[in-house]
Amino acid sequence: MDGRLLVFSGNANPALAKEITACLRISLGRAMVGTFKNSETRIKIHDNVRGCDVFVVQSTSTPVDHHLMELLLMIDAFRRASAARVTAVIPYYGYAKQEKKTSGREPISAKLVANLIRTAGADRVLSMDLHAPAIEGFFDIPVDHLQASPLLADYIRDLNLPDPVVVSPDAGGVGRANRFRERIGAGLAIIAKQRPEPDTAEVVEMVGEVAGKTAIIVDDMISTGGTLVEAAHALLDRGARKVYACATHGVFAAEALDIIGQSELVETIITNTIPQPNTATAARVRTISVAPLFAEAIMRIHKDLSLSALFS
Ligand code: R5P
Repeated sequence: MDGRLLVFSGNANPALAKEITACLRISLGRAMVGTFKNSETRIKIHDNVRGCDVFVVQSTSTPVDHHLMELLLMIDAFRRASAARVTAVIPYYGYAKQEKKTSGREPISAKLVANLIRTAGADRVLSMDLHAPAIEGFFDIPVDHLQASPLLADYIRDLNLPDPVVVSPDAGGVGRANRFRERIGAGLAIIAKQRPEPDTAEVVEMVGEVAGKTAIIVDDMISTGGTLVEAAHALLDRGARKVYACATHGVFAAEALDIIGQSELVETIITNTIPQPNTATAARVRTISVAPLFAEAIMRIHKDLSLSALFS
């Protein structure tokens, strides 16, 4: 890619965007991302982007619709300003849990969001730990799908926990948990979870040996915290000595941080795909930065280099 590399940010996670540009040793692109008095999103790109290779960093985190709209309008602005290529860098992809219909008369929201991003004018997408890998196929443009597990697994390995067992808190996360287990050399346990109603989690059954072991629950996101707290409780009930949790995206909806702070979890390790309030540390939540990984991915995309090395 010949065009100059430029990185911009919406309002979802400017701290991560700044950290990424620091890793790349460039300045963050200048743009005004605000609102008109009538509450419509207002965008003005201050830098000349003509012929440039533009990356827009924007997680579609809370307020999800507002951040999504900022992303769409920024992409549109870059397109109309003749950027040579626009990559939507979406560390946390919202609406991902609505990637299929669970009953009639429901939307497939993750697909609609993919269509919107494409229609706005994105040429590529760079994201991390999509809730369902199939979401990659919702896009008709290239998607580079990073994983946080090498970073999270490094942290867990350095703790030297005795008799570790990696736990998937639901059937959908078995592949993710198994890859994590391979990285740290641990056993595997699987929980069967059910949701009696939306945003409520119940442990139905567990497979695998956890008695006397240190359990590490591995998940893609923490939303209400219900899945983690229920899983931790079930693990201790079945004789696990201690329970840790790792998740890529700390969504922490509603009272999730309080619930986790009061839970039996020793430590919860997340990444900064979504910015966290200071109170997160009080809930024994540790944040690991994904900025160096995103910076490396951006540089490789810019130089047309392979990203495979980033998965090992
Ligand atoms: C479920 O399919 C996901 O992998 C997570 O387990 C889930 O999103 C966590 O949600 P919550 O924290 O609300 O239980």
